[in-house]
Amino acid sequence: MNINFPSPLQTILLPKELAIGSLMVKRDDLLHSEISGNKARKLLDIIKLPEAELPERIVTMGGNRSNYLHALAYLCCKRNIPLKAIIRGHEPTEYHKTLSDLVRWRCEIEFVDKLKFRDLRDNSNAMKDLLSQDNVLWLPEGGSTLSAINALASGVHEIGAVVENEPDYIFVPVGTGATFLGIVKGVIDLKWQTKVVGVVAIKDASYLRNWIDDWANTLVIDWESHGQLEHSFAEAGFGKINPSLLERQLKYEHLLSCLLEPVYTTKTMDALMAFAERGLLKNSDVVVWHTGGLQGRVN
Ligand SMILES: Cc1ncc(COP(=O)(O)O)c(C=O)c1O
Repeated sequence: MNINFPSPLQTILLPKELAIGSLMVKRDDLLHSEISGNKARKLLDIIKLPEAELPERIVTMGGNRSNYLHALAYLCCKRNIPLKAIIRGHEPTEYHKTLSDLVRWRCEIEFVDKLKFRDLRDNSNAMKDLLSQDNVLWLPEGGSTLSAINALASGVHEIGAVVENEPDYIFVPVGTGATFLGIVKGVIDLKWQTKVVGVVAIKDASYLRNWIDDWANTLVIDWESHGQLEHSFAEAGFGKINPSLLERQLKYEHLLSCLLEPVYTTKTMDALMAFAERGLLKNSDVVVWHTGGLQGRVN
C-alpha cells in the first residue's frame, strides 16, 4: 500500500485584507485516497507490518462519523484483517457514507450506548472478554497510541526539510489530542519556537487535558511550552452541522483551494481567522494542518 510521503506543503496567496504574514497548508489529505490525513500517519505500523506478523483480528471503537474507523476499515479490508468496531450510540435508521463504507469493507459493527462506550473506553477490565482470544490487536479510540503520536511528529520533520524558517504557528484540529501532541513533539524535537494551536472539535472536552498530560508524561515532553488548546470553536459539538458552518467551509475552501470537512478542518480555520482578526498573526508564518476525513464532507 503506497502512502505518498512527504505530503505537500502548499503556499496560499492571501488577499490583502487578511492580516496574516504568510499561510501554508500541510496537505496530509493527499497522503492516500482512503487512508487520508492524520490516519495515514497513525496507522503506519499496520500499513507496513509484514504479512506474517498481521494480527488475526483488530478490535477498536469510535463515533459513528469517525474518519479513523473509516480509514482503518479500508486498511483492514485491503490487508484481510477481520475488524470489529464498537460504535457509540444507537444504530441510525439510515447509514451515511462513513457507516456504509464500513459495511462494504466487511467491518463488524456493534452499537453500544454512551455509558457502555465510556465503560469500555475507561475501564480496561470491561474489555477483557472481548480480547480474550489470541493475537487480537486492541486499538483505542482515534487510533491514538504512543506510536501514533511519534509517527505524527514525522510530519513536522517533513516541514523542516522544505522551509527556511520555522513557522510561528501551526493550527491543527483536536479529537483525542494525539495528532496535536505528535506535532508538538515534532516541534520540540526540532527545537523550534513554533506555537501549536490545537482547535478542539468536541464540546465540553475538558477531559482532553488529562489524556494529553498522560501521553506527554510518558514521552517526557512539556507540551504546554509549545502547545495551546482552543476550546471555543467546537460550536454545538461534534458532528452537529449547521448551515453557517457549511457556509464558512465553502469560504475557506475557496481561500485554500482545497476541500475541507465541517467537523475538524473548518473549525480549525475558524480559529485561525479569529486569531488573524485579533491581530495575532500579522507578521507570522502560519501553517494549517489538513487532517483529511473528506468522505465526511457535506456541501
Ligand atoms: C479529519 C480529522 N482531523 C482531526 C482529527 C483529530 O485527531 P486526534 O484524535 O488525533 O486529535 C481526526 C480524528 O482522527 C480527524 O478525522
